[in-house]
Amino acid sequence: MAAGELSGRRIVLGVSGGIAAYKSAELTRLLVKAGAAVDVVLTEAGARFVTPVTFQALSGNYVWTDIWDARRPANMAHIDLTRGADAVLVAPASADFMARLVQGMADDLLSTLCLARPRAGMDGAVRDCPLLVAPAMNRQMWENPATQRNVAQLVEDGVSMLGPAAGDQACGEIGMGRMLEPEELLEELVAFFEPKLLAGRRVLITAGPTQEALDPVRVITNLSSGRMGYALARAAAQAGADVTLVSGPVDLAVPRAVTRVAVRSALDMHAAVMQRVRGQDLFIAVAAVADYRPAAANPHKIKKSGAPLSVELTPNPDILAEVAALPDAPFCVGFAAESRNLDEYAEGKRRAKKLPMVVGNLVQDGLGGSDNSVVIYDAEGRHALARAPKEQLARDIIAHAARLAAAPRSA
Ligand code: PMT
Repeated sequence: MAAGELSGRRIVLGVSGGIAAYKSAELTRLLVKAGAAVDVVLTEAGARFVTPVTFQALSGNYVWTDIWDARRPANMAHIDLTRGADAVLVAPASADFMARLVQGMADDLLSTLCLARPRAGMDGAVRDCPLLVAPAMNRQMWENPATQRNVAQLVEDGVSMLGPAAGDQACGEIGMGRMLEPEELLEELVAFFEPKLLAGRRVLITAGPTQEALDPVRVITNLSSGRMGYALARAAAQAGADVTLVSGPVDLAVPRAVTRVAVRSALDMHAAVMQRVRGQDLFIAVAAVADYRPAAANPHKIKKSGAPLSVELTPNPDILAEVAALPDAPFCVGFAAESRNLDEYAEGKRRAKKLPMVVGNLVQDGLGGSDNSVVIYDAEGRHALARAPKEQLARDIIAHAARLAAAPRSA
């Protein structure tokens, strides 16, 4: 995640009683690092697991535990804390706390805040301050029909459920009921705020380098890290799309809610894309696919000799060109990696492959690193995006592609 992805946001973090409360301290740190202002509210049980002092040190704000606390200037902490907040996140939410939410109880500060969420019109629009809940409990408590009824009711009431996950539990059992990890909760929250520009759309993305075998131990490859493609997959998923990422060999985590298909060579990538392209709405070719592969990979390790070695290379299929030429082709976005003459070469590739949109970049700006600067080429001309983290550029590229894909097509 890029720094500042929650800057300008104010989050009320509710912590109810459960051993997972210790993870909420880390969550507070991550939220602050992402730029959010965080007001922590502990239930009495929550404060038995982690003290207010910890949350105060991490959030830099006074921590609220008591509905009778008179420090709030208007002395209306039960409403005042969520006024202007972008979301209330309860993590962990115990089985008891969720039951109390369902019943509309208001017998402590956190439950009262959840019940009395005012309309937060920060941007002038009138809307409810959303409530997100991250359950954490023993698996039998989670599976209990009473809890499941409460979960269904909360969802019906418009509450967003984050998790839980399955795995090892503090009680020693294994099963459903673990709170999502702090990094996962942060990702969920960032995604929650993104406009759903691609809701209901299917997006296929290629990313990373390919490796072309010379022999069983040697390959021809390139310096693509996969970061640009993974950032685009993340941004498309955050925009609500169903994303499949066909990835060459890279050392990156799969973004939340993205399906990754791991491949090695250009031929593998070609096969994986052609198998999955039917029914896709968008195809984004970010991968640095090797244009050539050794005509015949040596089945055994090539032995060293003093003589020069020549390798015959044969062209690989152009995956993007082939997808764009399909009769029912998805909206295709190509990339162009150049070392000079960006406008000429990138726009030339767009026209040659009859693409509605190409993202051009200079390899010295973006290959391998965490930042990039790019120019988008489309039928309307060129649109330069200033140097920024790839996560930020990816959001802008997805917004541009979503807008063009929704409009009638022209090349
Ligand atoms: O991975 P990073 O380190 O984050 O770096 C990002 C990047 C520089 C790799 C990325 O921004 C980028 O420019 N990707 C495209 C790299 C590339 O191969 O460009 P190209 O100009 O050679 O190819 C043009 C287009 O055709 C690309 O969309 C490419 O994916 C596609 N192609 C190329 C050859 C081929 N056989 N099949 C293809 O689909």
